[in-house]
Amino acid sequence: MGSSNSSTQIPRFQHKEFSTPYKIDSMEAVILDHYLKGLIQPSVPISMAYSQINKLYSERNPGVLTQGMEVEKLLTELRRYYYDCGYETIDQMSPSFLSKTIALSVRSVFENIRDTGVLPSGFPYIGPGSDMYFDLIRSKEYEVSRESLKDYTDFLGTLFVNGTFYENLIFLGMGDGAEISATLNSLSDHVTKKIKSITMVDMTLSGMKHVVEKFNVDPIISSLPDLEIIGRVSRFEDVKITARRDETYSGNLYLWVGKTSGNFKILDYLNILNGFTADGSSVITDFGIYDNKSELLYIKNQYEGDRNRDFLLSNLVTLLKDLGCSNSHLNEINRSFRVSLQPEKDFQTFISINSEVTLPNSVVDIIEDRFGFIVPNDITLMQSYRRKMIDLIDVLQSYGYSLNQLYRVKGKSDIFTLVERTIS
Ligand SMILES: C[S@@+](CC[C@H](N)C(=O)[O-])C[C@H]1O[C@@H](n2cnc3c(N)ncnc32)[C@H](O)[C@@H]1O
Repeated sequence: MGSSNSSTQIPRFQHKEFSTPYKIDSMEAVILDHYLKGLIQPSVPISMAYSQINKLYSERNPGVLTQGMEVEKLLTELRRYYYDCGYETIDQMSPSFLSKTIALSVRSVFENIRDTGVLPSGFPYIGPGSDMYFDLIRSKEYEVSRESLKDYTDFLGTLFVNGTFYENLIFLGMGDGAEISATLNSLSDHVTKKIKSITMVDMTLSGMKHVVEKFNVDPIISSLPDLEIIGRVSRFEDVKITARRDETYSGNLYLWVGKTSGNFKILDYLNILNGFTADGSSVITDFGIYDNKSELLYIKNQYEGDRNRDFLLSNLVTLLKDLGCSNSHLNEINRSFRVSLQPEKDFQTFISINSEVTLPNSVVDIIEDRFGFIVPNDITLMQSYRRKMIDLIDVLQSYGYSLNQLYRVKGKSDIFTLVERTIS
């Protein structure tokens, strides 16, 4: 077990609480987070934002922007702009610049809905959603994920037995940090002392700060004075962390647990995995699995709870309210909340437990008026995949991955795996 001799030591973070370096790859997520929390309230029509940004950039980078530039490209340019200007926090930016960015970020949320019918992954967790999520995971309903924490640590115990160790642990979607603490608690002192850095990758800056506060008083972390803690506000899809390798250790270890990988369709999951493993790094990930359909009905029932609905809807409702949707519209959307089981296209035994709502036509019209495109009426707030184990193993193998370790507790609905690339 990890060291617990903290009573004689000064917790490492007590005197430099805010020293954790944060690297912000998804500035628009941080800006949306502030906006949704009501900390900034600009209202600039999107058409104006376009022409203003166009002007701004053509002054700075002649010829870079054109009228027809896609929003994604604009956002990339905006990110470059933040770095160019040396901004570290959004409070340093001018209100008009923020307005434009918010207009574009909000637009990109609705574009995602238009293109995929689903809210952008990670979106429900920012803004007020972040606080609601922390409440949710402390509640009974969330047993659906927390029950597997012990299995996770048992699996870790089987991994580090032969003196294998990793210097850099990268936690993807750290939530409230429960898995980070559980990891440190379950490793031997010997293995723990070899860890040089813990990186958290998540869309939610406020969530990261919350976790770092917990680390300030964590006895194991306090006992590791040289441990570096790094926050990366980023999408899983975008993050690149290069492994520092030498003959004494095995590169980076990514930990992607808490069924977060189940929020992605299998091909999207594989794309993200490609990015992590390109340099030979390994990934611990869990998958929700099922043996027969009745297990899915039980889980569906749990997802139908009011708390889950309120959490998944809260940020979308805030945006819709700002676009001018009335309370009766919002109530109608709220009442339409439902959970359904949907097979994944081309992978029929991969079943998504979909949380969905219906937007009334008048709301679709409001969105069209503002952004100039039509979103579908029926939209998915979040997906949570459960897969047949044997089919999952087949798919991963046929896409060039080996499951070097695989751990399942009889009768439980998770498997924990150590995933490595077999084809470079
Ligand atoms: C289902 S929670 C799991 C959290 C934690 N592992 C647990 O079990 O409590 C998903 C986490 O991933 C983050 N997240 C979801 N989609 C993301 C994305 N595309 N990029 C970055 N973070 C994302 C959320 O902010 C949240 O912290």
